[in-house]
Amino acid sequence: MRISIDEVKRIYKPKVKPIEWRDNRLIILDQSKVPFETIYVELHTPQDVADAIRSMKVRGAPAIGITAAYGMLLSLLSSMSKVSDLNDALRVLENAKRIMDAARPTAVNLPWATGRMLNKAKSSISNGSVRSVKELVDALKAEADAVFNEEYDAEIAMGIYGMEKLNNGDSIMTQCNAGGLATGTGLGTALAPVKLAKLMGMEVSMFVPETRPWLQGARLTVYELVMEGIDTTLITDTAVGLVMYKGMVNHVMVGADRILKDGHVFNKVGTFKEAVIAHELGIPFYALAPSSTFDLTSDVNDVKIEERDPNEVRLIRGVPITLSDVKVYNPVFDVTPPRYVTAIITEKGIIYPPFDKNVNRVINGGGGY
Ligand code: MRU
Repeated sequence: MRISIDEVKRIYKPKVKPIEWRDNRLIILDQSKVPFETIYVELHTPQDVADAIRSMKVRGAPAIGITAAYGMLLSLLSSMSKVSDLNDALRVLENAKRIMDAARPTAVNLPWATGRMLNKAKSSISNGSVRSVKELVDALKAEADAVFNEEYDAEIAMGIYGMEKLNNGDSIMTQCNAGGLATGTGLGTALAPVKLAKLMGMEVSMFVPETRPWLQGARLTVYELVMEGIDTTLITDTAVGLVMYKGMVNHVMVGADRILKDGHVFNKVGTFKEAVIAHELGIPFYALAPSSTFDLTSDVNDVKIEERDPNEVRLIRGVPITLSDVKVYNPVFDVTPPRYVTAIITEKGIIYPPFDKNVNRVINGGGGY
């Protein structure tokens, strides 16, 4: 019998709290410092939020979305003295959305969350449920909380669906960090099935590629899994093929920054390589993401893959590893074509190929398998 979302909520206690709204303040754990330092940063304005996203203090598609949802609320709270009516408030919100959406281009959760907040403001004003700026602030606080709470419920649902793919003794490879740090809730997407399997008494282990250049695997995923008591092995990004070839893993589970209507999966650079090798060796490859990560309108060539500072590659944590002026190409995401994806696990169910038919049906409410 399947465990319920409520039952998981009762017995699972998240070990990290990367995002918190407390006394009208947005507080985030600075993920660029984890696990060496535990530093919390207070964000006051949409510009603060954009800077924190750009500098990787908060990262991971759902966590960026949740932070930006609260960032919309901050835009009003930080400009109350200048906002005299609801029209002013809408202008402030539209400007905040523009500032934060520009912070990083690939994860669709960011414009999804700011769009949801702006739409909430517009609809609450037009249907008369909000009649003052103070009431708008209250409505947007409730909406940002809903973004957070729905994300957590979605992760539990994905964890339950994903756990059904796992057996005692299984070993899973991931990429980057698609855990509770990346989602802001403490649970995660790709790591949810493993965490829940462990909670249910199964023995499962994980292989974690280090994930150059930001080392999200080595720094963040290892940290999260070890805290959960999960048997964890760190590997270099270059060992991925051998580990799969030797039969050391029997599933790949990754998160996603954007999934298209035809099943193309954008995720941390290195994911494509894992998917191709897994496909070649007959290892199932699953992408796990909430419906807020789906982009049902863009085509694959419309999506911008973020390229970051060359020095992120020329140095590792401040230490030079090459000539200081060598030419660098530093894309931080890649795209996996649908033919390498075994299934996409969402809170609405598991989506199998053909994705060009099934993604739309499941995400728009038809239910998965
Ligand atoms: O550059 P990052 O650290 O923001 O990249 C994160 C990823 O690629 C994650 O796999 C993705 O956002 C899913 S998080 C649940």
